[in-house]
Amino acid sequence: MTRKPNPTDWHPTTWQKLQATQQPLYPDSAAVEHVVSELSKLPPIVTSGEILALKSQIAAAQRGEAFLLQGGDCAESFAECTSDAIAKKLKILLQMSVVLLYGLKKPIIRVGRMAGQYAKPRSADTETRGDETLPSYRGDLVNRHPFTAEDRIPDPQLMLRGYERAALTLNFVRALVDGGFADLHHPENWDLDFVHHSPTADRYQRIVHNISESLDLIEVVTGQAAYGAQRVDFYSSHEGLHLPYEQAQTRWLEKRNGWFNLATHFPWVGMRTAAIDDAHVEYYRGIENPIAIKLGPAMSAEWLQELLAVLNPRAEPGRMTLICRFGADKIEQSLPPLIQAVRATGSPVLWSCDPMHGNTESTASGVKTRRFDNILSEVKQAFRIHRDMGSHLGGVHFELTGDDVTECTGGARGLTDADLQRAYRSTVDPRLNYEQALELALNIADAENGSIGGV
Ligand code: PEP
Ligand code: CO
Repeated sequence: MTRKPNPTDWHPTTWQKLQATQQPLYPDSAAVEHVVSELSKLPPIVTSGEILALKSQIAAAQRGEAFLLQGGDCAESFAECTSDAIAKKLKILLQMSVVLLYGLKKPIIRVGRMAGQYAKPRSADTETRGDETLPSYRGDLVNRHPFTAEDRIPDPQLMLRGYERAALTLNFVRALVDGGFADLHHPENWDLDFVHHSPTADRYQRIVHNISESLDLIEVVTGQAAYGAQRVDFYSSHEGLHLPYEQAQTRWLEKRNGWFNLATHFPWVGMRTAAIDDAHVEYYRGIENPIAIKLGPAMSAEWLQELLAVLNPRAEPGRMTLICRFGADKIEQSLPPLIQAVRATGSPVLWSCDPMHGNTESTASGVKTRRFDNILSEVKQAFRIHRDMGSHLGGVHFELTGDDVTECTGGARGLTDADLQRAYRSTVDPRLNYEQALELALNIADAENGSIGGV
């Protein structure tokens, strides 16, 4: 079933008539129009066939037949568009997906916060240091991070630079995946340094060993390569925040009879921009991509029901994912009424848990961090609450990196507040380092399948 917005009622530009929150204030609007027109002539980053394939996988996850793993940086940076950083991020996501596959016994849908995660919502439009006030940093798509007037003025040319880097990133990911990097027969491709000397390494290696043995057995018995083991799909996602950028890559595809955002497979809408009459909701109702909405403690049952009615009026399977980010101390209160509210609509959704954004805190010296135990606790509670209510958690959403950063505390190595200064590199939110990310996947797998602990 496809939704066909009436073309006289919706167009990639109709959002412009509404209030759009969290948009940069560009000093020169003609320059923005020029860039949008340039962008709209460039070839797309993704294809409609891939988008629809992901949508049908999300539909399977809604039915409990697959599980979504979405992860990557809070904000990708242009400077980290390097082969090393991209390969490491892909490696940790592949490792986590293998652990989850083993623990949950379901196909894992792998989605990076990658190849376009360059625009950030901010709690304030300006930042003040001493007696200087400048526009806030809104991500590399908009302005630059250093605190100078020149760097902080939104520069439309950065949309072109971001588009190019998104394409470079996805091109490299595709080449790695097509070249056999993601082959389940060769998990040694994904070994990161720590695999040889980490407290989590043994648990991981045993899972990998068991999977290899199972694959060998299947292939000996059937005389064929195990289906899907050699090549995995890998999808891109980003917060679809910057509407001129998203509009520029929105195309009418005659053969599909629909509008597609071809800048990413799977955009999401933050709660800050999800007011029913906000321009974002207007834009997202018209495209065919699967989309997600972030839900925080302030989301009401009525608001959510209205969002589903506007964004998925025909209750199409695979269209909607709800990414909940309440915090370990609020989920118990916030999630059940929303599960009930969605159930009352009869509209299919995929429930995912983002255990990062509701658990952000500041240390005594003012550094933003997140505690491993709170992150794990929110995910475990999400699984349990869904199960208790006859629903199911179908995905997880993490901020992580393939590097050895020290931004979140806790985990097997017991990072403390004092460690944060050692390798704190995020420009926005604190990410799990590779070891913490894998440990989290192992703990989720353990909690959901008691047999893992004894692997
Ligand atoms: C994010 O995902 O980086 C983000 C800003 O999240 P939220 O809008 O849920 O706070
Ligand atoms: Co973030």
